[in-house]
Amino acid sequence: MPLAPWRSPLARALHRNRAAADARYCQLATVNADGYPSNRTVVFRGFWQESNHLQIITDARSTKLAHLQRQPWGAICWYFRQSREQFRLSGEINVIDHRTPRPDLQQARRQMWQNISDNARAQFLWPDPGVPKADPAAFEVVPDPATIPETFVLLWFNPEQVEHLELRGEPQNRTRYQYEHRTGQWQVEALNP
Ligand SMILES: Cc1cc2nc3c(=O)[nH]c(=O)nc-3n(C[C@H](O)[C@H](O)[C@H](O)COP(=O)(O)O)c2cc1C
Repeated sequence: MPLAPWRSPLARALHRNRAAADARYCQLATVNADGYPSNRTVVFRGFWQESNHLQIITDARSTKLAHLQRQPWGAICWYFRQSREQFRLSGEINVIDHRTPRPDLQQARRQMWQNISDNARAQFLWPDPGVPKADPAAFEVVPDPATIPETFVLLWFNPEQVEHLELRGEPQNRTRYQYEHRTGQWQVEALNP
């Protein structure tokens, strides 16, 4: 699939805000079993090669994974403070875990495991998240870059709709990008803010 037209404004925002470490944090919402929204902050881990897949890592034991098994649709909201712009993306999320059979996807998961820091890797060996706190000794773990734990999950977020709002500008600029399955093309439309 060719690069989507929202890729370059998003890349530009990441570049303009690169001095701020928190520019790589975005909010990812999923839907729980009761149909309610559930939201949390995650780290954007870059695009998969020259694709439109946003990469996020997470723990197989996390609540969001249970949500995604039932409902793979998610939404991201991302505000860039320095350039004062917001991106809202929605689309389907591919879960790439230890059971994923495709070798190229396992390769992407392995590559991500090797790229992240020791501190990030250690979290996947910690005791189960979201249950009463374990003994501090249980958190003293030493991850091995060569061994991927089953808890390590790579998510590929594939946007089908993207809305970009730029507060700078008189008036503000609001642009919608919509993927059209029928034609395989993106529709781009300028909207009133
Ligand atoms: C700055 C920041 C970055 C975070 N990055 C991630 C991340 O990349 N992946 C992740 O699963 N959780 C990340 N978290 C933790 C999540 O916000 C959340 O607490 C955790 O994943 C459990 O969410 P869940 O129970 O809804 O699955 C981050 C939290 C903060 C504050």
